[in-house]
Amino acid sequence: MTGPLVLGIESSCDETAVALVRGDRTILSQRIASQNEAHERFGGVVPELAARAHADRLAPMVETVLTEAGIALTDVDAIAGTAGPGLIGGVMVGLVTAKALAFAAGKPLIAVNHLEGHALSPRLADANLQFPYLLLLVSGGHCQLLGVEGVGRYRRLATTTDDAVGEAFDKSAKVLGLGFPGGPALERAAHTGNPARFPLPRPLVGSDEPHFSFAGLKSAVLRARAALAEPTAQDIADLAASFQQAACDCLTDRTARAIAAFPEATALVVAGGVAANQAIRATLAGLAATHGLPFVAPPTWLCTDNGAMIAWAGLERLAIGDVDDLHAPARPRWPLDPAAEAVRGAGVKA
Ligand code: KG4
Ligand code: ZN
Repeated sequence: MTGPLVLGIESSCDETAVALVRGDRTILSQRIASQNEAHERFGGVVPELAARAHADRLAPMVETVLTEAGIALTDVDAIAGTAGPGLIGGVMVGLVTAKALAFAAGKPLIAVNHLEGHALSPRLADANLQFPYLLLLVSGGHCQLLGVEGVGRYRRLATTTDDAVGEAFDKSAKVLGLGFPGGPALERAAHTGNPARFPLPRPLVGSDEPHFSFAGLKSAVLRARAALAEPTAQDIADLAASFQQAACDCLTDRTARAIAAFPEATALVVAGGVAANQAIRATLAGLAATHGLPFVAPPTWLCTDNGAMIAWAGLERLAIGDVDDLHAPARPRWPLDPAAEAVRGAGVKA
């Protein structure tokens, strides 16, 4: 099998990424460059620095990916670039690069919603995953439950009323002095911790409303840390583990509710950067088993931002003839389900 070839470009946050993917799910070549050194001393992503780094790196990265695969730009069937949502400077760098390449090669542009990249990425990893599926999309800026009914057909069942779960991981890691990027650092610290030591809140667990909330949990970590005068490494590990357990409980409770609200789902699927967390994956796998649903989680590298998921979303859209022209706008905000009502605080960051 072969199939069309799509070049995917991702630059909406702090990963510069390019991948060349074929319709038969072969990743011919790819590069992902994180910018951790640039942002580390600020304890978070600085949008201006991120955009500059994308501008420096993207064009040579495209050249490397094409050269490594032995593919000429004119052999590619379409150019897919993230057009939002995200940090707008970075989004513009990636989208303009994608437009220039599409124009130069005379190929269609596909302006991809970054969230659609995450939402469809499990189908790149698993050829058996069919629509419709229930997706828990958990990243640095988003925490949503979506009924994925087809390419371009996303029904938002729940979102966060305040922080995204990835943001809660990152802020908690910062408070605990665990460094940057926070999510993976907190997961490492939690390995040796006691998850039952700190009784942290589980906002909205058991509630009749469908949504998530993490601000109260994040603040509780701050208070618990402040109450420890001179914390030992074990104190920090216990607090990290207690936070991670509370986050798992929130995600599981809300997902269980969504399983009931979307009975047509053929699988429970998790995607987005936070889906790299092993404790969360294990808890969701247990939940899926309880409900007799297959559980699908992409490999961890495909959970965090990458170019392959953008190329794959491009391939899925190319297959149904859904391409863009060179007018496609860069969008700092871009909900996957335009019909969903706005919820206070949600979707502020990508
Ligand atoms: O999808 P992503 O790479 O970028 C966005 O679109 O936001 O997600 C990044 C988020 C960050 O909040 C990061 O801390 C979190 O995913 N993350 C993790 C883990 N790996 C990445 N959170 C918890 N455990 C992890 N292992
Ligand atoms: Zn992302």
